[in-house]
Amino acid sequence: KRVAILISGGGSNMVKLVESMTGTHPARPVVVGSNDPQAAGLARAQAMGVPSFAIDHRAYPGDRAGFEAALLEPLLAAQPDILCLAGFMRILTPDFVQRFEGRMLNIHPSLLPKYPGLHTHQRAIDAGDAEAGASVHLVTPELDAGPILGQARVPVLPGDTAETLAARVLTQEHRLYPQVLRRFAQGDLTPITLTAA
Ligand code: GRF
Repeated sequence: KRVAILISGGGSNMVKLVESMTGTHPARPVVVGSNDPQAAGLARAQAMGVPSFAIDHRAYPGDRAGFEAALLEPLLAAQPDILCLAGFMRILTPDFVQRFEGRMLNIHPSLLPKYPGLHTHQRAIDAGDAEAGASVHLVTPELDAGPILGQARVPVLPGDTAETLAARVLTQEHRLYPQVLRRFAQGDLTPITLTAA
């Protein structure tokens, strides 16, 4: 399976996904794209030998369709079977999503359906939740709402800040996403739950 990965920043999840696709893995990375030409993850992709591209969303102010048309060109040229959003911070229109529906994954840093959207860790802390975590889900037109393929759970500890909790969750994201992608690439959509190692 040919996997394309979209990022917006550091791309730590992308790095873990690329590193996981070795040997007998049923998938391999074919391109990494970003909406930000300055995304540090682009250099990390290139360092791993994965072709990359950037379409600056700031070049399409108020023109989401124009940005997505530009994004689609290099993306479709790579002929991906699977599209992984990994720290990708742009909301995609239903038109874009429908092109990849059923083969497009996203990782979101909360235990969905709790806390779709932003500031997930602070919201969990403010709610006094005992647990937090991350979810990998199939992308549907509704934001952060598709069928869940995997979750990783971590404790919220006394004194946690959004930053300390985010770091604990990110470590588990790096375990979760590669495991979900491997199973998904083999056609196994049975949800998995990881607890902190
Ligand atoms: C992190 O906040 C992570 O929880 C979320 O996207 C952000 C950046 O991740 N999935 P990455 O390092 O760019 O993969």
